[in-house]
Amino acid sequence: MARSGAGGLSRRRFAQLFGAGVAGMAAGGAAATGGAAAWARAGRRAGSALHAVPAVGAASPAAQAGAAGVAGGTVRLSANENPYGPSPAAFDAMREAFGLAWRYPDEAVDALVADLARLHGVDAAQVLLGAGSSGILQLCAVAFTGPGRPAVAAEPTFESPPRHARHHGAEALAVPLTADFRHDLPRMLAVAPEPGLVYVCNPNNPTASITPKEEMRALLGKAPERTMVVVDEAYVHFVDSADYESVVPLVAAHPNLVVTRTFSKIYGMAGLRCGYAVAQPAAIARLRDHQAFDSVNILALVAARASLHDADQVARGRRLNREVRTTVCAQLERLGYATIPSSANFMMIDLRRPVTPVIRALRARNVEVGRAFPARRAFPALPHHLRVTIGTAEQMQAFLAAFGQVMAARG
Ligand SMILES: Cc1ncc(COP(=O)(O)O)c(C=O)c1O
Repeated sequence: MARSGAGGLSRRRFAQLFGAGVAGMAAGGAAATGGAAAWARAGRRAGSALHAVPAVGAASPAAQAGAAGVAGGTVRLSANENPYGPSPAAFDAMREAFGLAWRYPDEAVDALVADLARLHGVDAAQVLLGAGSSGILQLCAVAFTGPGRPAVAAEPTFESPPRHARHHGAEALAVPLTADFRHDLPRMLAVAPEPGLVYVCNPNNPTASITPKEEMRALLGKAPERTMVVVDEAYVHFVDSADYESVVPLVAAHPNLVVTRTFSKIYGMAGLRCGYAVAQPAAIARLRDHQAFDSVNILALVAARASLHDADQVARGRRLNREVRTTVCAQLERLGYATIPSSANFMMIDLRRPVTPVIRALRARNVEVGRAFPARRAFPALPHHLRVTIGTAEQMQAFLAAFGQVMAARG
């Protein structure tokens, strides 16, 4: 497995990002990192543009919610959230929209759809909003799968589409990722004659790996007409690789392609719930038939729209994520742990030992890693890999300190 490179990180940059350094971290731990002051320090260290504080007190909204620092004493690195939170413009837009809470959000839906259509160069009839991309993925399972129309997905991947397909009476067929963590698209196509849906998560959760653009194009060229290819681009903004491309521009040529996007990741709006699909109008109409009316709330709609117009939000989020990720991967490498090269805001660390006890031990030190579901934090297909969300420099300092202690205790 390839290791994530240290990327030539200078001592000075490391010190900027991680303050006292990992030597000091071992003595610290999660409990030392809470609160608004920590948030402010983390922001300064990372050179981040952590946002001007809206009129809610001394801390940032993210810190108040526990996202940027420590939630109730816990460093939460288990849900691939964006610890820097939404754009300041999103907060302004939400405050202005409070007075519209009594009205159905028709105009706000139209406005966001129009902006997204413009962004992607498609018609408004090719965009469907949902309460998070989870809402859209559920619609895909319901609309496209059923008895005799299986869902095909990788193993491991984001489990929502196969899960909903199963509950909709469809078979869910799992195809292992390749040895280098790409989707095995030829095998995924061969596993059933005419699946209802083939789900490709690119970048993939939980491996943070990408499936190259030529392979995606080959899949779209070969998929049966009646098989819908659903490409989940939740983490698209974090990718740097030249081997990757978004398939949104390919929608024009493929009536059986649905691309899903979310405002939960780079836009930092996971708690607000807004996502969308881009597809040809007929596919959008099939999804819409199964959707509840007015399923996205007005605050999420205006925040999403304002976020799109904040030219800095994506660049800033991508830069901060890359800087912190590079530093953490280099540090892990120094400690002797390889990571799967990450194209997302999380990473998979190869522990070379069962992950579940390590997740538990980190939890006991107030560091939450693995999946957010308490009952199932590990990924059964990769039982030696630990998924860790890339948090702020401060959060990752707490993680590395606790990780060092836990792994040292285990020899
Ligand atoms: C790959 C992937 N797709 C979709 C989602 C759902 O995101 P949301 O419903 O918040 O848009 C997630 C959440 O973590 C994810 O990892």
